[in-house]
Amino acid sequence: MEFIPKEIDQYAQHITTPESDVLRQLNRDTHAMILRPRMLSGHLQGKLLEMISNMIQPERVLEIGTYTGYSAICLAQGLTDNGLLHTIDHNPELEDFAAKYIAMAGLEKKIKQHIGEAIDILPGIQETFDLAFIDADKENYIHYFDLVYDKLRPGGIILADNVLWSGKVVAPCTESTISPPAENSHSDVEKANSDPETEALIRFNNYVKTHRGINNLLLPVRDGLMISMKI
Ligand SMILES: C[S@@+](CC[C@H](N)C(=O)[O-])C[C@H]1O[C@@H](n2cnc3c(N)ncnc32)[C@H](O)[C@@H]1O
Repeated sequence: MEFIPKEIDQYAQHITTPESDVLRQLNRDTHAMILRPRMLSGHLQGKLLEMISNMIQPERVLEIGTYTGYSAICLAQGLTDNGLLHTIDHNPELEDFAAKYIAMAGLEKKIKQHIGEAIDILPGIQETFDLAFIDADKENYIHYFDLVYDKLRPGGIILADNVLWSGKVVAPCTESTISPPAENSHSDVEKANSDPETEALIRFNNYVKTHRGINNLLLPVRDGLMISMKI
């Protein structure tokens, strides 16, 4: 599902600073060689991640869901001189592919790849993060959010991708989509969107909306980016 007309998207890409050579090559090679290339953040969202990172100038960044390394390279752009980005993915087949482009971007000392289940690896990373990007299995978004929140400094930012899930979180748009469902109840939306990922994202969005420790913004960019700032 396209959230904005194709011509507007193309115009925005045309006007936006172009991808670096490495990112353009990584984008092209991912589409040519890797399964499910739609998972890659892409030019506009990549620029947004880069901008956010440059605004925060983080010392420590966490990413859950490396895939081929596109978003990691974008998020690393604003790192301080002694900065480090930890990125986790459970697919070992992607490790060398991502590492190649990370090295081509000159970021091999600034990006640390972890291979394994995020839920197992996260507790072992002893850092306080300034910025985090959650972009992996949707069913665990709330777990990841809680784990990351505990490791985030006040004022730190958690980004979560795909929170509109091609619009399924509001299809059909009923009142129960925008209010948190009562505990143990099955709302109309939950029945209508019965796939586990849509249900998980509806739960996640409502969880963030009612979380007292953050300010949040659901930005309808690409597939929906949730921005949460720890109070
Ligand atoms: C949407 S892709 C990430 C895209 C990447 N952040 C980007 O923007 O280019 C999701 C990635 O999460 C990884 N993943 C899914 N479940 C995971 C889990 N439980 N633990 C660690 N990684 C996981 C997948 O292997 C996949 O590479």
